[in-house]
Amino acid sequence: MAISIKINKNPQSRIHLCDFENIEFGKIFSDHMFRADYTDGQWQPGTIEPYGNISIAPSLSALHYGQSIFEGMKAFKDPQGKPQLFRPLENLKRLNISAIRMGMPELPEEIFIEGLKQLVVLDQAWIPTIDGSALYLRPFMFATDDFVGVRPSNNYSFMIFCCPVNSYYPKPIRVKVEQKFVRAAEGMAGSAKAAGNYGISMLPTMEAKKLGYDQIIWTDGKNHQHVEESGTTNLFFVLEDNLVLTPRLDGNILNGITRNTCIALLRAKGYEVQERDISIVEMIEAAKQNKLTDVFGTGTAAIIAKIATIGYEGADYELPDPEKRVVSNWLYKTVYNIQTGKEPDPFNWIMKLG
Ligand code: COI
Repeated sequence: MAISIKINKNPQSRIHLCDFENIEFGKIFSDHMFRADYTDGQWQPGTIEPYGNISIAPSLSALHYGQSIFEGMKAFKDPQGKPQLFRPLENLKRLNISAIRMGMPELPEEIFIEGLKQLVVLDQAWIPTIDGSALYLRPFMFATDDFVGVRPSNNYSFMIFCCPVNSYYPKPIRVKVEQKFVRAAEGMAGSAKAAGNYGISMLPTMEAKKLGYDQIIWTDGKNHQHVEESGTTNLFFVLEDNLVLTPRLDGNILNGITRNTCIALLRAKGYEVQERDISIVEMIEAAKQNKLTDVFGTGTAAIIAKIATIGYEGADYELPDPEKRVVSNWLYKTVYNIQTGKEPDPFNWIMKLG
């Protein structure tokens, strides 16, 4: 069922301020944003307005008690210049899984999809087309009660804004295996894309950066033996360019849409992909024996983030030349070509908007 979205167009486009040849991730925002509010126990249809600041109460419950969840997704242009989305219903599914875990109301499909479609069509001039770029879409939901006290909010806002982006990681990254702090443990909210899960990553990542790393690899909350995910991506390990391992969805890691995309593509290509517990000691041993041929992260923002170096217990393990990696280079090209319509879409992942 189509919903009616009121559109209040921005009279002053800022697109001339965007240098599409030199986009920095997350710094410039398109002309419009979508907003739908949840009041009186139901979602209202929503509006598209000029992108800009919003007014909030100092007592806004999301700020104090953390009911705040988000998604990351991207819009692309096909070779004919028409806008398209990549697997948007998967983002809705995950948003609602996060909402349930955080005691927030689920968002109806028609609000999510119609809001996205109309926003992206309206701001389609902001979809960059240089290689590696996309229009990043940030749907998010937060509690808006003006109230002090720990209980679920009665009111929420769901919003979407867009920013033209290029690669999240312009070069292969150095990661440190985190063995002091924990992101999630059984029964916590590790599979929810909740703002707080990123908040707790800031200190360990700052500490890793001081030591010369770009990111951390989280390990399990019981005894730090198994790898979970990085601060921004799911993780894949390739043994002898043949066997691909990725941590299983144990409830502690994010059910990444790019993760799922990569597993499907790899299996269709004939690779064996095992979703299982992955011991960090086993991976370090494989690296020492030159059997660890590729390690990479997957995520919407990064697509494929090649890992150049793993730091573990004070030693650095250098991985094979990122330029020569078989699996991650193939995956990056294939995922991005499907997203931009340069290769066929055998799994029906694309939602065309034009
Ligand atoms: C994404 O990949 O979309 C995320 O939400 C992670 C963040 C690093 C931007």
